[in-house]
Amino acid sequence: MDDHLQAIDALSYEMRKFPPSAQFVSDASTNDQSLYQEAQLDHEGFWARQARELISWDAPWTTVCEWDLPYAEWFVGGKLNVSFNCLDRHVLAGRGDKVALYWEGEPGDTRVVTYADLLTEVQKFANALKKLGVEKGDRVNIYLPMVPEAAVAMLACARIGAAHSVVFGGFSSQALADRINDAEAKVLITADGGWRRGEVFPLKPQADEAVKMAPSIEHVVVVKRGNNEVPMINGRDHWYHDIVAEADPVCAAEPMDSEQLLFLLYTSGTTGKPKGIMHTTGGYLTHVAYTFKFVFDHKPESDIFWCTADVGWITGHSYIVYGPLANGATQVMYEGVPNFPANDRMWSIIEKYKATIFYTAPTAIRTFMKWGTQEPAKHDLSSLRLIGSVGEPINPEAWMWYQEHIGGGTCPIVDTWWQTETGGIMISPLPGVTVTKPGSATFPLPGVAAELVDEEGGHVSKGGGYLTLTKPWPGMLRGIWGDQQRYRETYWGRFKGRYFAGDGAKLDDDGYLWLLGRVDDVMNVSGHRISTTEVESALVSHPSVAEAAVVGANDATTGQAIIAYVTLRGGLEVDEKVLRDHVATEIGAIAKPKAIFFTPELPKTRSGKIMRRLLRDVAEGRNLGDTTTLADASVVNELQRRAAETPAED
Ligand code: WT7
Repeated sequence: MDDHLQAIDALSYEMRKFPPSAQFVSDASTNDQSLYQEAQLDHEGFWARQARELISWDAPWTTVCEWDLPYAEWFVGGKLNVSFNCLDRHVLAGRGDKVALYWEGEPGDTRVVTYADLLTEVQKFANALKKLGVEKGDRVNIYLPMVPEAAVAMLACARIGAAHSVVFGGFSSQALADRINDAEAKVLITADGGWRRGEVFPLKPQADEAVKMAPSIEHVVVVKRGNNEVPMINGRDHWYHDIVAEADPVCAAEPMDSEQLLFLLYTSGTTGKPKGIMHTTGGYLTHVAYTFKFVFDHKPESDIFWCTADVGWITGHSYIVYGPLANGATQVMYEGVPNFPANDRMWSIIEKYKATIFYTAPTAIRTFMKWGTQEPAKHDLSSLRLIGSVGEPINPEAWMWYQEHIGGGTCPIVDTWWQTETGGIMISPLPGVTVTKPGSATFPLPGVAAELVDEEGGHVSKGGGYLTLTKPWPGMLRGIWGDQQRYRETYWGRFKGRYFAGDGAKLDDDGYLWLLGRVDDVMNVSGHRISTTEVESALVSHPSVAEAAVVGANDATTGQAIIAYVTLRGGLEVDEKVLRDHVATEIGAIAKPKAIFFTPELPKTRSGKIMRRLLRDVAEGRNLGDTTTLADASVVNELQRRAAETPAED
């Protein structure tokens, strides 16, 4: 058996069980097995019913799903507009005054945006984009802080059939340029700056650097947020508020093909080049609308939902913008960090807006644990009725802490497993139905077919295995932009007829699924996916570095931490900090190694392959097993000695 699976098998499992309260069950939108049964009997029929009931169509589809492995098309022939579904239909139904966003800036300034406001703003900005030459089928890049304009920009693109590609504001200008170039975007939407940790971080200068390297960009739109001084290039750069003020307030929502490209979102794979994951219109919207409604048991009349993700990640796309707005939800949107001005900021926001549903990441929960229970205890969190987790496996201790100190001991927890590629939640409890176990994402949702397989692709019904998906689902990726060969190989090449997610998992005696992390060269740092190869490429792009090997080592707070082993070019010396900053410049601060070890030699097999598994063992302080295939064992002894005496940097 593969090393990963052996490690998986060695883990033990939680026996505690938590059923939802009788009150929660009786109020829940679904509280029995009926959705599971319906989907089991008729997979496509089940999804078709969701599409009919949750989405407004301009023209009906002729085929629910066309499946030609590995390509799926959903609701073929159907026509709809995503921005109409997220905005117009709520306003037309008389809910224009309903709050869509309670936005809170980090300094404490606030904005209340209703559905009517959002619709007007989106129409104006859609017209402004058209005036800048954006047409259906074009790509538009978005590089913004967490401001309402991020949602406006995404919806404006959707309204006119341009695909957006949002790049997280923490990425460097180089990373932004790479993504713009791959997508060949015409327009870039950015801001002067945003607030973070009590200061304005400038975005426009990064955007300018990127545009120098990105010849496809014709126009740059700049949202004023930081009020920091930024140079504007005449003819190319436009203030958002100027072009919106001049724009026609009416822009009809044009019906789009169900399979029209809605967005690209870049994510890390096992090579140095990020993948532009493609998501389309009808299937994606159905999937996120359905999961938002049932996983979060969303009640449009009374719930206030808060997802703490950034719009730069898939969680922000699916559960801040499309899923909640399609359901007419009222949400909280927060710009800044969780510890400004103090460690209780999140809890003060929940209390202030009386949030009822809270969705965050395990790494955040573990950080809150470190800050202490006195922080949430300062606030009344009794408005909460459901809490969720996403991004990485949640350890039972963090789960229990979350339930007790945030959920008041009564809120169900939905631990939701999914990926950028799946578009929406795939494995999760249904909160009014499922008895949860701390640390388990429990079962595939109705309409999702997941199975574990062994090394040879054989079905595993108990114990450890590789997580695969066996039936197409509406929100699934439609491919990798510009590289369909890679799409086939990465996701469909490993196990015949199955989508391979890249995760290991285990099925316990009761059939519960326990997600156990990635089994490939992809790290998960604070819930963000970073490829080891990408960080290695960044390191070797520094003139003093000859060779680099990067591993993800277990870390109590961030899940995994990036540890790099570096060999310098003959006679050269360089500071660890210089290399860490170099990685930040190449990729972004999130990819900075936590520690860098310099070594005259990397441990390699006799055929020259770097032994990463061994380096991971060293980084995690484990005793080394068999090193007989190693070309030079003294290299490892030396690394181990130094790992033991060097404290890792924070
Ligand atoms: C990878 C996907 C899904 C939005 C955020 C991350 C890991 C995600 C869980 C969970 C265990 C999880 C997996 C997956 N992951 N959620 N509830 N339990 N692991 O999106 O960047 O596409 O990363 O995150 O390893 O493959 P992403």
